[in-house]
Amino acid sequence: MKKILEMISDEMKQAFTTAGYDGELGKVTLSNRPDLCEYQCNGAMAGAKRYKKAPIAIAQEVAGALDGSGIFSEVSAVNPGFLNLKLNPEFVKDYLVKMSQDEKFGLDAPEHPKKIMIDYGGPNVAKPLHVGHLRSAIIGESVKRIARYVGHEVTGDIHLGDWGLQMGLIITELQERHPDLVYFDAAYTGEYPAEPPFTISELEEIYPTASGKSKEDAAYKEKAMDATFQLQSGVRGYRALWNHIMSVSVADLKKNYLNLNVEFDLWKGESDVQNLIPPMVEYMKDGGYAYISEGALVVDVKEETDTKEIPPCMILKSDGASLYNTTDLATIRDRMDTIHPDTIIYVVDKRQELYFEQVFRCARKTKLVQPETELKFLGFGTMNGRDGKPFKTREGGVMRLEALIQEINEEMYRKIMSQESRSMPEKEAAETAKIVALSALKYGDLSNQASKDYIFDIDRFTSSEGDTGPYILYTIARIKSILAKYKETGGQPEEAVLQPACSEAEKSLMLELVGFNAMMEAACEETAPHKVCAYIYGLANAFNHFYHETKILTEEDAAKKEGWIALLVLAGKVLETCINVLGFSAPERM
Ligand code: ARG
Repeated sequence: MKKILEMISDEMKQAFTTAGYDGELGKVTLSNRPDLCEYQCNGAMAGAKRYKKAPIAIAQEVAGALDGSGIFSEVSAVNPGFLNLKLNPEFVKDYLVKMSQDEKFGLDAPEHPKKIMIDYGGPNVAKPLHVGHLRSAIIGESVKRIARYVGHEVTGDIHLGDWGLQMGLIITELQERHPDLVYFDAAYTGEYPAEPPFTISELEEIYPTASGKSKEDAAYKEKAMDATFQLQSGVRGYRALWNHIMSVSVADLKKNYLNLNVEFDLWKGESDVQNLIPPMVEYMKDGGYAYISEGALVVDVKEETDTKEIPPCMILKSDGASLYNTTDLATIRDRMDTIHPDTIIYVVDKRQELYFEQVFRCARKTKLVQPETELKFLGFGTMNGRDGKPFKTREGGVMRLEALIQEINEEMYRKIMSQESRSMPEKEAAETAKIVALSALKYGDLSNQASKDYIFDIDRFTSSEGDTGPYILYTIARIKSILAKYKETGGQPEEAVLQPACSEAEKSLMLELVGFNAMMEAACEETAPHKVCAYIYGLANAFNHFYHETKILTEEDAAKKEGWIALLVLAGKVLETCINVLGFSAPERM
């Protein structure tokens, strides 16, 4: 469906042409004075010089040419030469009718659907998830859902950190504690036990212990590095332990992400591309891209236009070991070979921006990607506490994700239970609290532009008023409850027919709704979930204003009432579609 702004602009362009001016002057925008008009056109101002005429005179002529237009109910030329516009309620209603009948509410399929890969989540196996990984998961999931909704073919990959020193540390600590385990017996040739020699809680305790020890004890660190090397060279017992660490840890990660309503299509990790590294290194050497510098193998990635120093991309260290970026480059190669994406989007902490700049340049220079392949870095800012510093526990430690979720669930439960009008049994309240808490957490994050730091304020995020997830869910619950009551009295919401707006509040609500397709397209194009948030906040405000001004269910004029019900049905569906792409859902009631 054509976007409403395009339809209006077309009409305006036609009027400029009819009046004898360049049609291009007829561009229409949303009004920046909503108290005066709904849309505006500043074309007469722009054309004044060219046509050597007072802008107001041009505006008046154009307004004259719009006499009898079906799209506008009001076109006024105001000094010094603006065209203030109001839409014909009939036209708006017709647009909404078409929107209601369309599966995606007027959003057209993309002309060229793309294959998009999203690299997000990026947790490190055996290390507890912390809030830093939260943002990647929340933002990436939403970016994925938006692109998929718009009609692209999207694959989300978790890109597990499963190959680094943390594995060697765990193995070393296990050996300290249980030297008799069969995995450490080099002479052992039999099968290894199917059951892991630890549980997830032990594993989570082992890693920080080992990491702490390695910082203080150089010999311990040496051992861990050696264990990492042994593992990477394929020592059987270590491989078997690695498999246990993976299965225990991944099962736990799956549970955690499920709670967050985050789903990955691929659970690939750094380990999966290790065998691709040697041939890639050969390829880079053979192509003359990589050369030895101070013993290390590097690829130059600086460009003439650089204003700051971009260091070379190191492929192998002087001891032959590969690095974080070697793995990322091999992963790009793997993705190009198996998925052939048009675009790869990385949702990673913005502090890794320079790093990714090097990786992208290296991938381009060494032709691991096609010239037209788009590599996009979506860097996010830090989640801070109310003191403006990176979020910590009350004791000052790194906040575990589970603890954070627990805290927000409890706060939400407390708020729901303390409502005066509460009619919900405790069990339902606990379930509802979880659903609403997730909206609080995700909306609190997504409503900010991703690159900005933001303050995690549990009190504000869980509030049912203001720009919050719970406010949106309350609005949806309110719509659902009105529709349910309408049904109880024999009405059929799905059959209801829209009517032209008969009040300002109703029209404002309609005008919010018509922007859905343009908003969703922009949110996808700009990988900007915050645009979806801003849209539903505006929509929810317009709905609540309308609701407070209108006695919907007691209206005597049947056609009017039905029209409102139809409007509610559409608003409810649009809101639910939007929260779905943001990655949360609404409870039946609150
Ligand atoms: N595991 C990494 C970390 O915790 C994030 C991975 C980001 N993705 C990537 N392709 N490098 O910092």
